[in-house]
Amino acid sequence: MLTASQIHKSYGRLPILRGVDLSVEKGEIVSIVGASGAGKSTLLHIIGTLDRPDSGHLTIDGVKIDGLNEKKLSQFRNEHIGFVFQFHHLLPEFTALENVCIPAFIQGTARRQAEIRGMELLERLGVQHRAEHKPAAMSGGEQQRVSVARALINNPSLILADEPSGNLDSENAASLHQLFFELRDSLAQTFIIVTHNEELASISDRTVHMRDGQIL
Ligand SMILES: Nc1ncnc2c1ncn2[C@@H]1O[C@H](COP(=O)(O)OP(=O)(O)OP(=O)(O)O)[C@@H](O)[C@H]1O
Ligand SMILES: [Mg+2]
Repeated sequence: MLTASQIHKSYGRLPILRGVDLSVEKGEIVSIVGASGAGKSTLLHIIGTLDRPDSGHLTIDGVKIDGLNEKKLSQFRNEHIGFVFQFHHLLPEFTALENVCIPAFIQGTARRQAEIRGMELLERLGVQHRAEHKPAAMSGGEQQRVSVARALINNPSLILADEPSGNLDSENAASLHQLFFELRDSLAQTFIIVTHNEELASISDRTVHMRDGQIL
């Protein structure tokens, strides 16, 4: 479902990604591990079409990403990709439920329908009692779970997560990892997860190791 080939990216004269090749099957859960600064987040941003590589090719769900203009790209991203960031980027002026529903509203889903699905997800993640809270009135772990619900609301085929359980205690982390596997089993969603969590890496289908901008 995803092929990245010979992805290069530099910041200024500093090469960050140095010819990354990665193929992922539909329904596969792949974890990416590696030292701080290895280029994991940079790669995830490029795979997520948030950033463009200097050279190389990317195909997702049969769509060649290289040729898409900005408008097509953001439409593609909204429909196909869900993000769970290292820092969750919830919008501070909106409630938890509104934050979760925003990607659905952008896609044109009716308010009521989006809210029903949003509440289901908040419940599944154990934060339904915080639905009307704004981010500042939630704990870090609660905010993280809300951002996971937001990533899932449009049923994206590809979910990209950067340290999704980094802010969670071990119980909530385990329950989040279990949710990923359930979604894969029920909806055949594909996951690429950057993680330092060894347990998550060990239960994923495949672990990819990155060092100095390359996959080993
Ligand atoms: N916008 C930028 N401008 C300049 N350098 C950058 C930029 N973004 C990232 N870098 C550099 O690229 C390298 C890789 O960064 P990246 O965020 O991909 O690392 P990472 O593997 O995700 O690390 P961590 O585990 O700490 O999150 C780092 O050395 C970083 O300083
Ligand atoms: Mg990172």
